[in-house]
Amino acid sequence: MNHRSFFPLSHLPGFERRRPLQLKVIYDNRSMVEGLTSDWGFSCLVGDDLLFNTGEKAPLLFENMVKLGVQPSALTAVAISHADVYHAGGLFDLMEQSPSIRIYLHPKFPQGFIANVRKRWGDRLTLVDSFTELSPDVYVTGPYPTREQALVIRGKAGLIVLTGCAQPNAVDILENVQKHLAEPIDLVIGGLHLAGRVYQGMEEEAIKIIKGFRCLGVKRVGPCHCTGEEAISLFRKAYGDDFVEVGAGFMLQV
Ligand SMILES: [Fe+2]
Repeated sequence: MNHRSFFPLSHLPGFERRRPLQLKVIYDNRSMVEGLTSDWGFSCLVGDDLLFNTGEKAPLLFENMVKLGVQPSALTAVAISHADVYHAGGLFDLMEQSPSIRIYLHPKFPQGFIANVRKRWGDRLTLVDSFTELSPDVYVTGPYPTREQALVIRGKAGLIVLTGCAQPNAVDILENVQKHLAEPIDLVIGGLHLAGRVYQGMEEEAIKIIKGFRCLGVKRVGPCHCTGEEAISLFRKAYGDDFVEVGAGFMLQV
């Protein structure tokens, strides 16, 4: 399987850097744009044709996507962080809607899930077992040292890391990213899995993550999805002007 076959312009001789990429959050627990529906889950479009996670409900994913000017059939690749229904629930319908789309899972997905995908779309499936460049300036981490993979984009101001739930610890994911790309981390966007931990040390865990991010030099944060409102408030307070509000409809040119 050719990992590098989208953004084909980037491979022309003499092409120095891929065109700027736009991030569009399609699916999130919160909506930032009137008309977009919020729902527990996360999905973000990278550039024109790479989707990171699908959210749970395909009809909602497609509806938000179309409202943001994206046709599901135009996608060429989808990478999924982990098999949680809030991140992978829309995958099978997406595969039906996007006839040539390739799928990037990893070996820590449940074997039954992988077998199901392989049976139907085996020729389009890649299992990512280590840090891999998907296209110029776009990487997927593979599931080590955690149970899920993150997406990494080299933006103009540094690396942007997209997480699904970032379990068990976002700092571990970022440390792994830095082993492969020793470059400044500009922004972390995604779920940090702190919602529901209110009575189980959420605040301590959030403070630990914030400290870890600071140690790694993470410049900006955009926690959303399963981070939960209480923990999001702690990040907002800690990061001040460098806190980025993220929800469905969020867009950023990187
Ligand atoms: Fe989560």
